[in-house]
Amino acid sequence: MSERIPMPMPFGWFQVAYSHELAVADSMPLRYFGTDLVLFRTEGGEARVLDAFCPHMGAHLGYGIRDQAGGGSAVVGDSIVCPFHGWAYNGDGQCTDVPYANNPPPKIARGEQVIRPWPVRELNQVIFVWYHPDGIEPTFEPELIEEAATDNNDWGAFKIHTWDIDTHMQEIGENAVDPAHFLYVHGTQNIPKPDEMEFDGVLRTGRLVSKMATPRGEITGVIANRSTGPGQATVRFSGICETVLMANLTPVDQEHSKAFYAFIQKKVDGEEPVGGVADAIVADICKQMEEDSIIWAHKKYFAKPMLCDNDGPFAKFRKWYSQFYTQDWA
Ligand code: FES
Ligand SMILES: [Fe+2]
Repeated sequence: MSERIPMPMPFGWFQVAYSHELAVADSMPLRYFGTDLVLFRTEGGEARVLDAFCPHMGAHLGYGIRDQAGGGSAVVGDSIVCPFHGWAYNGDGQCTDVPYANNPPPKIARGEQVIRPWPVRELNQVIFVWYHPDGIEPTFEPELIEEAATDNNDWGAFKIHTWDIDTHMQEIGENAVDPAHFLYVHGTQNIPKPDEMEFDGVLRTGRLVSKMATPRGEITGVIANRSTGPGQATVRFSGICETVLMANLTPVDQEHSKAFYAFIQKKVDGEEPVGGVADAIVADICKQMEEDSIIWAHKKYFAKPMLCDNDGPFAKFRKWYSQFYTQDWA
């Protein structure tokens, strides 16, 4: 554990890629949860995740060679093929082929799991992986976001932005319950008013009324945010240009996080909104991420901050968040 950030990684569902990044029979290396992984899509179209290292002699399954150099390794049928000696593994972690052996190792002959599979869900055009430090099976599910459905013709294409952030995810999440920082970090005209905040099991919902800078001047918008576990967040902006932001966070390791932001904007007369207010909302959130990142990269986590009235409900937020830890680290 680092001195700056004492928290371990939380468990939950975490985005590791967008669906469009992984074609059929494609694979790619991943590094999340302090672990090397491989993500692949079977010829049947299913996304699967395994530990990265081949149990034969330790090659990384996510790096192809020869005609696949620079890309992922090969996928045949439901299995990923190790580039080193051609052994193949399905998404359940069983070895499905040892192409040159007459007598494969007994575990393989018995059909046992020889490499660790990770639970995967694909929804909202996103690939999620379940991480739990003790290897416990999923205790809840990621949430379906209707606006993000592939066949939702009322909403436009994803506008995607990603950031590598040098802090623990909980610190990033605390932004949602910190109205005062908007004025000082983001230069809003006033401190936005939180008018609702609910904690209900793995769900957390909140509403902020905020002023946003747009080319048409400052406008008042309602920002409704919703978290399903620590990894999946959805923010709905209304009042000006209807925008849904999937703001998913994934632990790279204990002190580094990846932010996957996909903005989806409601079509007007069948057309995606371009320019003006629509672009301004996206630009404003991206600007906020750059500003927050400077604070996050250098701040230290205080278990007992010195709070005042009009600070947000940090204690409630932290209590809610603590359900996603298995160890008592405080
Ligand atoms: S290391 Fe993977 S097949 Fe040999
Ligand atoms: Fe912020």
